Amino acid sequence: MEISFLLNGERVTVADAAPTETLLDWLRERRGLKGTKEGCNEGDCGACTVMVTDATGRKALNACILFLPQLEGKAVRTVEGLSGPQGEVHPVQQALVDHHGSQCGFCTPGIAVSMAVAHADGDAATDDRLAGNLCRCTGYAPIIRAAEAAAQDPVPDWMNDRVDARGDHAPHRPGSADALAAAYLADPDAVLVAGATDVGLWVTKQLRQVDKVIFLDGCADLKNIEETGTDIRFGAMVDMNRVRAAIAPLYPSYAEMIRRYGSYQVRGAATIGGNIANGSPIGDNPPALIALGATLHLRKGDVRRSLPVQDFFIDYGKQDRAPGEFVEGVTIPKQAGPLKVYKLSKRFDQDISAVCGAFNILVEDGTVTAARIAFGGMAGTPKRATEAEAALIGAPWTEAGIAAAQAAMAEDFRPLSDMRASAAYRLGTAQAMLMRAWAEDTGLETNVLGIAS
Ligand SMILES: Cc1cc2nc3c(=O)[nH]c(=O)nc-3n(C[C@H](O)[C@H](O)[C@H](O)COP(=O)(O)OP(=O)(O)OC[C@H]3O[C@@H](n4cnc5c(N)ncnc54)[C@H](O)[C@@H]3O)c2cc1C
Ligand code: FES
Ligand code: FES
Repeated sequence: MEISFLLNGERVTVADAAPTETLLDWLRERRGLKGTKEGCNEGDCGACTVMVTDATGRKALNACILFLPQLEGKAVRTVEGLSGPQGEVHPVQQALVDHHGSQCGFCTPGIAVSMAVAHADGDAATDDRLAGNLCRCTGYAPIIRAAEAAAQDPVPDWMNDRVDARGDHAPHRPGSADALAAAYLADPDAVLVAGATDVGLWVTKQLRQVDKVIFLDGCADLKNIEETGTDIRFGAMVDMNRVRAAIAPLYPSYAEMIRRYGSYQVRGAATIGGNIANGSPIGDNPPALIALGATLHLRKGDVRRSLPVQDFFIDYGKQDRAPGEFVEGVTIPKQAGPLKVYKLSKRFDQDISAVCGAFNILVEDGTVTAARIAFGGMAGTPKRATEAEAALIGAPWTEAGIAAAQAAMAEDFRPLSDMRASAAYRLGTAQAMLMRAWAEDTGLETNVLGIAS
């Protein structure tokens, strides 16, 4: 397939791109641009970070799990393109030199690109922006000092890539949900590729041959966020950084959990539709969506149907989705009461959940009047804790009052032991998360990064 995009300011056309050729392989092996490094080849280390600009703005993305067709009509800037046309050094590069931000230098190209994107965005949340860039030898203090030092400098002109509003469309790269519906109906065996943060790993790690693909990235209407007085609807292709920003005013605890979803680069690629459609029992959105009573919108050809998100997950590896049917969007109700979402993983940043719990509990006059609690990582699907909910409703919202609900979780779940956590640890964690929800509601301070005696 033919792909055209801007590379470091110059238009390139790839006439013979295989559908799953990654940008990283193409840059290094076909273009000889070896500044972009390969570390893990699975989205974890950030050594391959590049800047990608489209009509909606710029992103830092991992080139190792980015397929060339996802770049149609966009602009890519690699570490070689951070310096200006006359060889001018980018402010973040100069600051890395000044602050001794590089030792072996393997991580440095990716770090420089992540810093340059954050610099262009004027984002001072450097820890979040660099959580997906692994540095083993310099250590982060000099790097963060460099980012802070560069913040005052203006964004160089050459960083503002101008791109067409529309790329080129073909049946495997539809330009709208309507065109996608027709293409998928005609070819229901095709693999849909949204952000490719799962599908990318099928190719780079499982070495799977994925030939028949339909790329959803060109479907601009699937990237819409529509807000009314009562709810907020996300198109399937809204990425997790945008979900986080939109959800933060409504459900800050959910947004804070998303801050720990992969890394900035992973969140810029991963979509809410992909995170639901993949049916993973440890996807981080479903527990919150189920606890909120969110509605999933599916579409097959011209036929649309909607169902509660919780009903989509039938069994491990089995979802309520017919051949040729795809996720079009998800609607989240707005509610007055708070939602609490907690993620437990072995590492704070950039790790998959061992357990993710979402608590939507209504308390009136000290008594629980309604409860929707859902967990990921506790069963073969994301699942509600119905026994615990029943035990809570009518109980006093006190430490003693939640004990029966904690005990009832043993009826709700028979979790597995695996490399992330043992069954007993998972159950204990789920019970402790309910305690945390109560403690925070009561005004007690909880801090997962601190140790208290
Ligand atoms: C380094 C790394 C860290 C990660 N960290 C987390 C994390 O912290 N939490 C977490 O939950 N996940 C995490 N993931 C997993 C991954 O990011 C998510 O599952 C992601 O949401 C998948 O979305 P995507 O858009 O990238 O999907 P893709 O990889 O494009 O697709 C995933 C699956 O869904 C199907 N699909 C995609 N969109 C649709 C649609 N609209 N309709 C029907 N089917 C569709 C695809 O065909 C495929 O089977 C991580 C992944 C990586 C590589
Ligand atoms: S090589 Fe590690 S994130 Fe791409
Ligand atoms: S400088 Fe060596 S990994 Fe960062």
